[in-house]
Amino acid sequence: AALVRYTFVVQETNYTRLCSTKKILTVNGQYPGPTISARRGDTVIVDVVNQASQNITIHWHGVKLPRYPWSDGPEFITQCPIQPGSRFSQKIILSDEEGTLWWHAHSDWSRATVHGLLVVFPKIGTTFPFPKPHAEVPVILGEWWKNDIQTVMEDFLRSGGDPAISDALTINGQPGDQYNCSGPETTKVKVEQGKTYMLRMVNAAMNNIMFVAIANHQVTVVGTDGAYTKPMKTNYVAISPGQTIDLLLEANQPRNRYYLEAKFYNSNPRSLFDNTTTTAIIEYINGNYNASATPFSPLLPTFNDRNASANFTSSLRSLASSAHPIDVPLEITRKLLYTLSINRLPCATCVGRDNRFAASINNITFDTPRTSILGAYYRGMNGVYGDDFPDNPPFIFNYTSDSLNTSLQTPMDGTEVKILKYNDTVELVFQGTNVVSGIDHPMHLHGYSFYVVGSGFGNFDRQRDPLNYNLVDPPLQQTIAVPQNGWTAIRFRANNPGVWFMHCHFERHVSWGMEMVFIVRNGKSADTRILPPPPDMPKC
Ligand code: C2O
Ligand code: CU
Repeated sequence: AALVRYTFVVQETNYTRLCSTKKILTVNGQYPGPTISARRGDTVIVDVVNQASQNITIHWHGVKLPRYPWSDGPEFITQCPIQPGSRFSQKIILSDEEGTLWWHAHSDWSRATVHGLLVVFPKIGTTFPFPKPHAEVPVILGEWWKNDIQTVMEDFLRSGGDPAISDALTINGQPGDQYNCSGPETTKVKVEQGKTYMLRMVNAAMNNIMFVAIANHQVTVVGTDGAYTKPMKTNYVAISPGQTIDLLLEANQPRNRYYLEAKFYNSNPRSLFDNTTTTAIIEYINGNYNASATPFSPLLPTFNDRNASANFTSSLRSLASSAHPIDVPLEITRKLLYTLSINRLPCATCVGRDNRFAASINNITFDTPRTSILGAYYRGMNGVYGDDFPDNPPFIFNYTSDSLNTSLQTPMDGTEVKILKYNDTVELVFQGTNVVSGIDHPMHLHGYSFYVVGSGFGNFDRQRDPLNYNLVDPPLQQTIAVPQNGWTAIRFRANNPGVWFMHCHFERHVSWGMEMVFIVRNGKSADTRILPPPPDMPKC
């Protein structure tokens, strides 16, 4: 395994989109940021230098960092922020991840512009479990506000309501030719007829799941979240914020120009969202088309098609081959049921309303501490967090009913963690609720990949639903969209000691408190304990 080094200078850089210029936070002046490339099992050192005027932390989304949570990045969970003028050298220990992952800022809403791909190639001497593609193409889905993102976040927090919707969706940083002032820079992908291309896709948008499709072409899903899947041909993709998907695109159509289009999926009719379309152009080399003609357009599912989203998500399967075996826990030592709710709380200071949105897991709205939970845990410091996160919701109700009692709406506040023993085998069922409004929640766990063994609409049935679990080839993921008013069951073995954040990957839901923390205790032997912290951990 090799040691790979990068320097990330976080800085403010001027960018122009949609005919207006603003300063955005970038890494090395790039938006989207630089791609990190390594091989399975390598160690990557990233020297993060903060030359911006605000705090920052960087997270390596999907990298498990065995026994080394110190580099994980979520602000006040595993570290204090890197302050302006200071630096932090982050060691990223790759283990069994292979495929596309990504990195992003993990403080405030900075990840809107501070993000990039993290590509893990097979080890030397091994290859992809599919024919080597002719070329690889990044497809980084994002969104753009004309306003400063820090201002967007502050206005949102002050109002107590929904955030301002973005002014454009983007592909590799470009809105594309459906927006005013954006045509010439549209992302173009040149392909040669007869060749196959690998699309490395990530949804780096802030607040919505996306549907993506390419006109006249099917794509083949071959991986998600840094693990291979059984090849799956599809006309469209549903991708959650935080999720990565590897796709093969066969250039098998007449030599012409075809749109790759991406739109938001939004299952909640009451929430406002950016309903625009971002485009990239798949352009065949040596085509005889009229360059001013509009490329062919794909048919995307309608914006609120929750079946289209759930069907795609529940069709993914692990490769489960001898070279890529699975290891789903069969005996479970910890059964957890976590409700995911949107709530409302009274608000005297909110602008223009007398209540504000909140969000909760098992009716607890997470209160972010002012110092690192990992630091407090490692040093045995009291008073930073409690260890009373409940295994079950505080009361049972019909979670997904259309007429829910308003008294269910008031969550408690707390900084509670769930303690797991080393090697606990965990089954966690996420139950979406309709408390204020039901919506999908893309849940993400740090430090682990988990097997998604089942999902469905409505209330989880403890007796019946487990009978239909897929324990043969469930997909291995780190981010999973829990369907609107539905449930998802995941399993993992708690074999990575540390402090690991779990949260919805919708940024507004994080701001409202839909997050919690697992602390996985050390094992007995020396090689099952947290490694010591680096000397340059940022201080609060
Ligand atoms: Cu992609 Cu906690 O993050
Ligand atoms: Cu959510």
